Amino acid sequence: EKANMTIIFKKYKDMLATLPKENGWFTDVYMYQGFWYTSMSILSVETIMALQDTFKALPSDIYLATMPKSGTTWLKALMFALVNRNQYKKNDLLDHPLLVSNPHVCIPFIEIEIFKNTPTYGDVYSPRLFSTHIPYTSLPQSILDSGCRLVYLCRNPKDILVSTFHFANTIRDKSHRPLTFEEAFESFSKGIMPYVGPYWDHVKGYHKVSLEHPETVLFLTYEDLKIDTVNIVKRLAKFLGYPFTEKEEAEGVVQGIIELCTFENLSEVGKHGKFREDIPNDAFFRKGKVGDWTNHLTNEMSHSIDEITKEKFNGMNLSF
Ligand code: A3P
Repeated sequence: EKANMTIIFKKYKDMLATLPKENGWFTDVYMYQGFWYTSMSILSVETIMALQDTFKALPSDIYLATMPKSGTTWLKALMFALVNRNQYKKNDLLDHPLLVSNPHVCIPFIEIEIFKNTPTYGDVYSPRLFSTHIPYTSLPQSILDSGCRLVYLCRNPKDILVSTFHFANTIRDKSHRPLTFEEAFESFSKGIMPYVGPYWDHVKGYHKVSLEHPETVLFLTYEDLKIDTVNIVKRLAKFLGYPFTEKEEAEGVVQGIIELCTFENLSEVGKHGKFREDIPNDAFFRKGKVGDWTNHLTNEMSHSIDEITKEKFNGMNLSF
């Protein structure tokens, strides 16, 4: 597999050398099509280029797009559970994949597992459920042309920063010292994140297209999903073409799916195991709360991020 990757990447290495470069959280980051990416990592600029050249979408595909730490794991679980709900017996969920696997196994990333051809549930189920952290404007053209459905999950920038700060320090190569919160804040404010940034441009790209094409792009927020889970899950089901019937609603199917995907339940699965060689399962489950930023940001930091957000999200009517 490594040899294969090396051959594929060789072509993109020359391009990499021509890109603007900056110091990132632990490694250098490169500017490609308006976004900062790392190189030779989970979401690397070489992988994005390779996917843009080779990825083939199907019209029936469903994609979940997010900035890392937006609640991807949670929404993966909900989408997988609701799309595949008829495959599992209603009151006996004992055989459900979400009881034995991390949601990232059930819905693979196109730039990670699919790119590496790791066999996953994505190959087994129809429709294919995939996820991505790639910004809208850099998605493989095949996804844009296929007319398939795309769900975007957004989360407030200050909680994203805090969540990313903890995650990055948890999974960091231990040859690096942990990043201080001040360093993370400075870097985030400049638009640099461990995998892809700026945060604001990522959100804006998907928000814009969700307004232009509401039938194919659904824009959700982590905060709404927390407060209004039942209604958001129903909306999601309808959007994806799997609306709940009155009978299902009466039988509590919506509640059953939500219950299966709670922070408490998902975080118990494979608790002490590893999801990938470098990431323990429990790295994806920290607090699962709205507003933990108040425990990390000074008033000054908070004000500064609010100012950037106000300017960048001007007229977007996003409330967190
Ligand atoms: P915190 O670090 O703020 O706790 P992602 O899945 O995109 O990597 O995002 C991870 C964030 O989602 C973490 O936020 C994590 O705790 C939270 N999360 C994971 N599962 C969740 C669930 N079932 N319900 C609510 N939040 C969840």
